Amino acid sequence: MATSPVRFGLVGFGAWGQHHAQSIADDPGAELVAITAPSAASRAEAARLHPRARIFADHRAMLAGATLDLVDVVTPSHTHLEIARDALHAGCHLLLEKPMALRVEDCREIIALAAQRGRQLAVGHELRLSAQWGEIKRVIDRGVIGEPQYVLVELSRKPYRLGASGWRYDQKRVGSWVLEEPIHFFDLARWYLSGAGDPVELYAYGKSRDPQRPELYDHFSAMFRYGNGAYAVVSQTLAAFEHHQTVKVAGTKGAVWAGWSGAADRTLQPTFFLKVFADEKLEDVRFVQQSGEVFELRAQIARCVQMVRGEARPAADGRDGLWSAGLCLLAEESIRQGRPLPVGEMLA
Ligand SMILES: NC(=O)c1ccc[n+]([C@@H]2O[C@H](COP(=O)([O-])OP(=O)(O)OC[C@H]3O[C@@H](n4cnc5c(N)ncnc54)[C@H](OP(=O)(O)O)[C@@H]3O)[C@@H](O)[C@H]2O)c1
Repeated sequence: MATSPVRFGLVGFGAWGQHHAQSIADDPGAELVAITAPSAASRAEAARLHPRARIFADHRAMLAGATLDLVDVVTPSHTHLEIARDALHAGCHLLLEKPMALRVEDCREIIALAAQRGRQLAVGHELRLSAQWGEIKRVIDRGVIGEPQYVLVELSRKPYRLGASGWRYDQKRVGSWVLEEPIHFFDLARWYLSGAGDPVELYAYGKSRDPQRPELYDHFSAMFRYGNGAYAVVSQTLAAFEHHQTVKVAGTKGAVWAGWSGAADRTLQPTFFLKVFADEKLEDVRFVQQSGEVFELRAQIARCVQMVRGEARPAADGRDGLWSAGLCLLAEESIRQGRPLPVGEMLA
C-alpha cells in the first residue's frame, strides 16, 4: 500500500521560507498543503509559485483551516515561540528554524510542550545533514583522527540581508546576530565534540562597525572548553565578501581541514573540499553530492518526512536547539561582562 505524503504547513515565505517551500514541493514524500505569509505581496508570490497550496495570512487561520502533519516555521526569530506553541497545541509536529527561540526558558517551554503533546521537534541546524560537514562527524566517529581536542569553525561573509520589514537589523526581533549564523557553528562544534560531554566554560568577543547598533556584532569570536581540556573556537566576520567557511578539527591521531566558498551562501555551484590527515597520510575526500545550505535543506525536509513517519530522529532536536541558542546567549553575556563564564547548569 502506498504511503500517503506528509502534509506540511509552512509559516513564512521570505528568502529562506521560499527555499523551504520548494524543497517540500520537490520531496516525493511531502505535500505542501498550506503557506502563511502576512503581506499580500508574499501571499501572491506564494500562490503563483505553489498554486496547489492553500494560502493564509495568519498561522492560526492555517492551523484551524488546513489538515497538517507538520508545521514548518521560517519566520523572523522573535515569532518562533508563539507559532511553535500554537502548532504544538494544534497537534502538529514541528520543524522550527534556528534560533528555536530568543531565550533559553522559551526553548525549554517548546521542548516541554512537544513532549507533553507527544509531537516531534526538529530544529533547523541543517549543516548536520551536509555531505561535507557531516562527513567530518563520520570521520571523527570512525576514530580516524583519534579523540578530537580542537575545533575551529570560521566564516567570513558579506553583511546580512535586512529581512522582511528590516527585522534582522532590529535587536528586539532578531535577538542578536550571534543567534543568526554563529549559532550553526556552535551546533557543529558541539556535535563534533560530543564525545567530551557538555561544555563547561565560554569566553567571547564581539565588535560592531556601526555606533547606531553597538549590540549587533559584525565581528564575533567565542571559545568554549570541555572538562577534558578539549575546546572549540567559533568565529565570524560580516565585514567581508562572498561566503567562505572553514572547519578545522585536530585530534590525538590526526586532523581535518575543510573549506566551502561561494559567491553567496545559497549558490548552487560552490567550491568545497575536505582533507583528512591520519597515519602520516593526507587524503582528499571525494564528494558525489554538493555541499551547501540549499542542498542540506532538501535533506532536512526528507529527514522530517521520515521523522513524522517514525522512521528517523531529527538531525537536531529540541535539546540541540536549546544548547546552540544557550551558548549564543552566554556568549553575548560574556561580551557584556568581559570575562569567561561557566556554562553551568543553565544549559544542562
Ligand atoms: N537554517 C538556516 O540556514 C537559515 C537560513 C536563513 C534564515 N533562517 C531563519 O529563518 C527565519 C526566516 O528568515 P528569512 O531570511 O527567510 O527572513 P525573511 O526573508 O525576512 O522572511 C520572513 C518571512 O516571515 C513572514 N512573517 C513575518 N512575521 C510573521 C508572522 N508573525 N507570521 C507568519 N509569517 C510571518 C514574512 O512575511 P511577509 O513576507 O509577508 O512580510 C516573510 O515571509 C529566521 O528565523 C532565520 O534565522 C535560517
